[in-house]
Amino acid sequence: RTIFLKDYKKPPFLIDETVLHFDLSEQGATVKSRLSIRRNPDADTAPQDLYLDGVDLELAAIAIDGVELSGSGYELIAEGLRVIDVADNFLLECETRIKPHENTCLEGLYKSSSMFCTQCEAEGFRRITYYLDRPDVMSRFTTTIVADKNLYPILLSNGNQVERGDLDADRHFVTWEDPFRKPCYLFALVAGDLLNIDDEYTTMSGRKVALRMFVEPQNKDKCSHALNSLKASMKWDEEVYGREYDLDIFMIVAVDDFNMGAMENKGLNIFNSSCVLAKPDTATDATYQRIEAIVAHEYFHNWSGNRVTCRDWFQLSLKEGFTVFRDAEFSADMNSRTVKRIEDVNLLRTAQFAEDAGPMSHPVRPASFIEISNFYTLTIYEKGAEVVGMIYRLLGAELFRKGSDLYFERHDGQAVTTDDFVQAMQDASGKDLTQFKRWYDLAGTPVIAVDYEYDQDGQTFTLKLSQSCPSTAGDVVEKPFHIPFSFALLDNNGCNIPLIQDDDAVFANAPTELVLDFVKTEQIFTFQHIEKRPIPSLLRGFSAPVRIKNTYSRDELLFLMSNETDGFNRWDAGQKLAVEIIREVAESYAQGAELTVDQRLIEAYRGLLVSESIDKALLSKMLLLPTESYLIELSETANVDAIHHARNFVRDTVAKALKSELLKCYQDNLEAETAYSADFRSIAKRSLKNIALGLLLSIGDAEALTLAETQFATAENMTDESASLIALVNSDFIAPREAALETFYAKWKADPQVVEQWLSIQCGSVKSGSLEAVKRLMSHEAFDIKNPNKVRSVIGAFCNQNIVSFHNANGQGYAFLADNVIKLNKLNPQIASRLVTPLTRWKKFDEQRQALMQAQLKRILDEENLSKDVYEVVSKSIK
Ligand code: ARG
Ligand code: ZN
Repeated sequence: RTIFLKDYKKPPFLIDETVLHFDLSEQGATVKSRLSIRRNPDADTAPQDLYLDGVDLELAAIAIDGVELSGSGYELIAEGLRVIDVADNFLLECETRIKPHENTCLEGLYKSSSMFCTQCEAEGFRRITYYLDRPDVMSRFTTTIVADKNLYPILLSNGNQVERGDLDADRHFVTWEDPFRKPCYLFALVAGDLLNIDDEYTTMSGRKVALRMFVEPQNKDKCSHALNSLKASMKWDEEVYGREYDLDIFMIVAVDDFNMGAMENKGLNIFNSSCVLAKPDTATDATYQRIEAIVAHEYFHNWSGNRVTCRDWFQLSLKEGFTVFRDAEFSADMNSRTVKRIEDVNLLRTAQFAEDAGPMSHPVRPASFIEISNFYTLTIYEKGAEVVGMIYRLLGAELFRKGSDLYFERHDGQAVTTDDFVQAMQDASGKDLTQFKRWYDLAGTPVIAVDYEYDQDGQTFTLKLSQSCPSTAGDVVEKPFHIPFSFALLDNNGCNIPLIQDDDAVFANAPTELVLDFVKTEQIFTFQHIEKRPIPSLLRGFSAPVRIKNTYSRDELLFLMSNETDGFNRWDAGQKLAVEIIREVAESYAQGAELTVDQRLIEAYRGLLVSESIDKALLSKMLLLPTESYLIELSETANVDAIHHARNFVRDTVAKALKSELLKCYQDNLEAETAYSADFRSIAKRSLKNIALGLLLSIGDAEALTLAETQFATAENMTDESASLIALVNSDFIAPREAALETFYAKWKADPQVVEQWLSIQCGSVKSGSLEAVKRLMSHEAFDIKNPNKVRSVIGAFCNQNIVSFHNANGQGYAFLADNVIKLNKLNPQIASRLVTPLTRWKKFDEQRQALMQAQLKRILDEENLSKDVYEVVSKSIK
C-alpha cells in the first residue's frame, strides 16, 4: 500500500499524557500504557472510532476510564486496533505483551547482547504498544521500568529520573519523566548491566548538565572521544546557532546490534557501538572523525528534530537535511573545511547521484512511499543538506542565522514541514525563495552546461550558463531551479580578478568571488574591465548539487591543480584530469590496444609530492584517484573490468614513476609520535604516509614490503596498523598478506569493532575477497547474520567495494547477494532492503549483466512473505 503526501490529514485525536510501565524479563515484556486522549479541535475529520497503530503485539487488557472493554468495544485489525465509538475525552489503558528476545528486526524493543534497548524511528513504537504512531502527535511521557536488579541494574528512559526503589529481593524499578512533549519516535528505553562514564557541561546561561555515557564494562576505556565530541558540539551549537541544551542530563548508550548509526531520542541517544566507541589502538582516524560527526549530528537533533519536529515522514529531510548541514559545518570548523567538503561531495556525487538516476529516485520531499524506512536515503540526508547549504550560500551567514532563529522561535514545540523552514528563511532574510522550493519537490540531478567567451577589445568576459534536469522517467524537467553558482575569474598567476558586472560599480570594492543567482534555463553574466584572458573558476566549493560538464583542457586542469584559489576546485581539477586519463586507458584496454598514461598526470603528482607549500590535508586527498564506483557512476554503460584494470594501471604507472618521491613522502611523515592525536594535521600526516605505503606495495616494491611489515608489527594506533594490513592485503605478496590477516585476527578477535574492520578489509579487496573466501567468512565464528555491522562488513563490503568480484560476468556475485537478501528479508527487512541496492543499479551495466541482475531481482520478488521494505525497492527496480 502506497502512502501519499497529498492525503495528509491532521490527527483526529491527541494524546496529552502517556504513562508507560514496562515489566522486563527473559520470557518477554509486559507493557502497560495509560493514554490521556482527547479529540483534536483542529482536526480535518471527526470519526466515531479511534484507530491506534500496533504491530506484533499481544493485547492482554484494554479499558476506557477504568472500565474494561468488552469484545464489542474494540476490534483488532491489520497493524492496529480500532476502539469503537469513543468520547471526546477519555483515559485509555492497554496491557500488551511483546517478545524482545525474539525481535530480530531491531525495531521497537529488542535485546542486544545482554541488554534491552529500543529503536522507534520511524514507526517502531507501534511494536511496543498501541499508539498514534505519527510524529504530529506529541505527548508528555512518564516511564517506569521494572526488571531484575542483578541482570539490569541500569534502567533508563527519556528525561529526568524521578523515582527508584526495590520491589522485592530480586526486582527493582526506576521512573523517568520527560518534561518536553515529543512524538513517540523519540521514545527510548535501555536496561542492562552497564557502566557509566561521567562528564559535565556548563551551558552558556550557566546551567550544569550531567553528561553520562553508558557502555558494557569492557568498553569503559572507549568513551572519552565521544564525550569530548559531545562537549565540543554543545559549545558549537551555542556559539553558531544560539542553541542551548534543555535538560539536566544528557545520556549516550552504545549497543552492538543497531540498524543505523545512531538515534537522537530525547535526552537518551542510542548509538551503534561502531559509531561511538574508540580508543587509539582500536579505532582508525576515519572512525574518530565519524564519531565526532555522528555525536554532533545526534546532539544537534535536540533542536533540529526534537524541539522542532516533522509533521509527517514526507518531511523527514526537514530534520535530517538541516542536521546533516549543521554537523558538516561543525566538522568543517573542527577540522579542515576543504577536506570535509571534498569528502561530502565525493559521497554525494558517487552515491546520491547514482540513487537519483536509479529506480528509487525521489525528491528531498517525497510525494509517496510504501515503507518509510526505505527513505532514510542519501537524497533525504545528503542532498537535503545541500539544499539547506544552498539557502546558506544565497542568504549569507548572517541572514541564515536570522532565519534559523526565526524558525526555532516560531516553531518550538511544533511538528512542521520543509515549507515552514523555507518560509522562515524567506521571512527573516527578505530573499524570495519561491522558485528555490522546487529543489524539495523534484527528483533528479540538474545538469549545467557552461560556455564562456573573452573579448579582448571590449575587455569583457561573458559567462553563459544553461541548465536542464533529466528526470528518471526519461523526460526533462521544464522549469529551471534557483541555483547559487559560486564564481571567480583567475589571472595567469592564479589570483582572483575583481568582478565588475556593471559600470557604475565602484572598482575598488568589486568582489573577487560571487554567488550568482542562476534562475533561468539559460542565463548570461557579463564582467567588465578584464584586461587579460582569464580562466574561470566555476561552481566554487561545489555550491550546488549539480553535474557540470568539464570545459577545461588538460593543460588548464594542470594549471588549476596548482593554482585554483578554491581548495575544493583545486582538488576537483585533479579528479577531472585523472578521470579523463583513466577513461582513455580503459578505452584502450577494451580495444585490446597498448596502454599508456599521459605523462602530464605523472608530472602533476610529482609536483604535488615535492611541493613545499601545499597543505598536507589537501594533498592527502589529491593523491587519491577517483574510485571505481565514481568512474562507474560517470559512465553511460560501465565496463567494470576495463575501469578496474585502467585505474590499477594508472595507479601503478604513477607509483613506479614516483617511487623515490613516495618513499620520501613515507619517511617524511613517519616521525615518531608522542601520543596519538586525532587532530586533522596529525590525521593528514598519517594519511599521506599510508597512501605512499599503499602505492608502493601495489607495485610489489620489496623495500616497501619491509616497511609495511615493520609498521604492521610495531604500529601504536589502529590507523597505522590497519593501513599496513590493507596495503598487504591489496598486494601480491601472498604469504605476508595471509600471515598478517591471521595475526590481526588472533590479536583482536575479542573486539567486535576491530573484527568488523578485519572482515571488511578482506571482503572489500579483490585480492583476498573472492566469492569463495567471502562465503567461507560467513561460516567463521566472527560472523553473525543477525548483527547488522557484520552483514555490512562482509556482504556489504563485497558488493559495494569489491566491484569486479561482485560483478563477475558469471553472475555468481548477484546470486549470492540475492540469497542473502532473501534470508535477511525474514530476519531484518530494513537491512535486507538496504543490502539489495547494488542489484538495483543494473541500468549501468552491459546487457548480459543487466539480464543476470534482473533475474536475481525477479527471484527475490517471487519470494513469499516479502517485507514491505524489500518489496518496495525490488518492485520499483524491475523493468
Ligand atoms: N534519526 C536517526 C539519525 O539520523 C536515524 C534513524 C533511522 N531509523 C530508521 N528506522 N531508518 O540520526
Ligand atoms: Zn539524523
